[in-house]
Amino acid sequence: MIASFRERFGYGDGVRVFRAPGRVNLIGEHTDYNLGFVLPVALEMACFAASAPSRDGRFRVYSENRNASREWAAGEVASLKPSKDWSDYVAGVMQQVLAAGFAVEPCNLYVRSTVPEGGGLSSSAALEVSTALALLAGRPIDPLELAKLCRRAEVEFVGMPCGIMDQYISVFGREHAAVRIDCRSLENEIVPLPEVEILAVNTMVKHELGQSAYRQRVQECRTAVEAVGGVESLRDVDLPRLEAAAARMPETVFRRARHVVTEDQRVLRFVEASRRNDLAEMGRLFVASHRSLQHDYEVSCAELDFLVDAALEIEGVFGARMTGGGFGGCTVNLVRPDKAASFRAAIAVAYRGRFGIDPRIYSCRPARGAGEAASPEK
Ligand code: GLA
Repeated sequence: MIASFRERFGYGDGVRVFRAPGRVNLIGEHTDYNLGFVLPVALEMACFAASAPSRDGRFRVYSENRNASREWAAGEVASLKPSKDWSDYVAGVMQQVLAAGFAVEPCNLYVRSTVPEGGGLSSSAALEVSTALALLAGRPIDPLELAKLCRRAEVEFVGMPCGIMDQYISVFGREHAAVRIDCRSLENEIVPLPEVEILAVNTMVKHELGQSAYRQRVQECRTAVEAVGGVESLRDVDLPRLEAAAARMPETVFRRARHVVTEDQRVLRFVEASRRNDLAEMGRLFVASHRSLQHDYEVSCAELDFLVDAALEIEGVFGARMTGGGFGGCTVNLVRPDKAASFRAAIAVAYRGRFGIDPRIYSCRPARGAGEAASPEK
């Protein structure tokens, strides 16, 4: 990273490198903005941001993945407007770091990411968090504030009304474990996992519908909360209470809410099953989660459904489900470690046979959260 930075910007002294991981969510989908539970793991795939003070008073960012760069005058940053491309994540974070009261010196940023874009593995949160750390350049920040700041960048600047999960796990990820996040209290619990291979299979598609459907789901959940009445969020609602209010909401809204309230329960049951090493139950909960996302929440798609159904036919698979926002991206699969290689081969053949596309498959070893990756002194 330092060599690439030097080549790009012509100097290499004072460069520091920060790393922020992507994530795969094991279970708890579309529950974060309903203040419920999620259970993601941080990945070894990560975004790296190398930075050093610039010598001409300008901010500059170069994305190696896109081979594209942007630059801004220091005085311009606070009033930037979104330009609807990758640089919005960087500009949004710059504004939020300033708004949080940090003085940010003009700097050059060199960004490289190994998180596949559009794969539903949180490449954007990884970019946000690594950028924030690079701008802070080692100044201390409360980790929860860091996650919240990056989420604000996405909600307020990029304009995506996401929950806290992606930024939170990028900051709080743990090696060898999943992290159960309570999206209301924002506390977490480290959940060690049984001997199992976590494999993400990338559909290699991202349907356009995703963004608008996400907004619509957020809105539908609000409608459900109003119809139930007297509660802050769907976190406060259980199935009997929802059913009692069913007549006061459209049928679609009822199904959306049913997904959310049952999914919260599945997260808690999954954590318990994990503690007992009960992989069969963990697998059943995976499949139940997928069916609920497919039929009640309606955020799946033909490619994801196919990958889940095909996986369930393969030996050594405990369970499979879509992960992330939906409408493309990845499935996540729990596979017996000695069957991982044969699973990879079989799922690739099946997917290619049906869609003519080679799926990428990633081994998801839980990794630590964001931090400084290297510095000249170290
Ligand atoms: C996206 C959002 C998250 C979360 C998931 C669905 O990844 O960024 O906040 O809502 O979708 O679980």
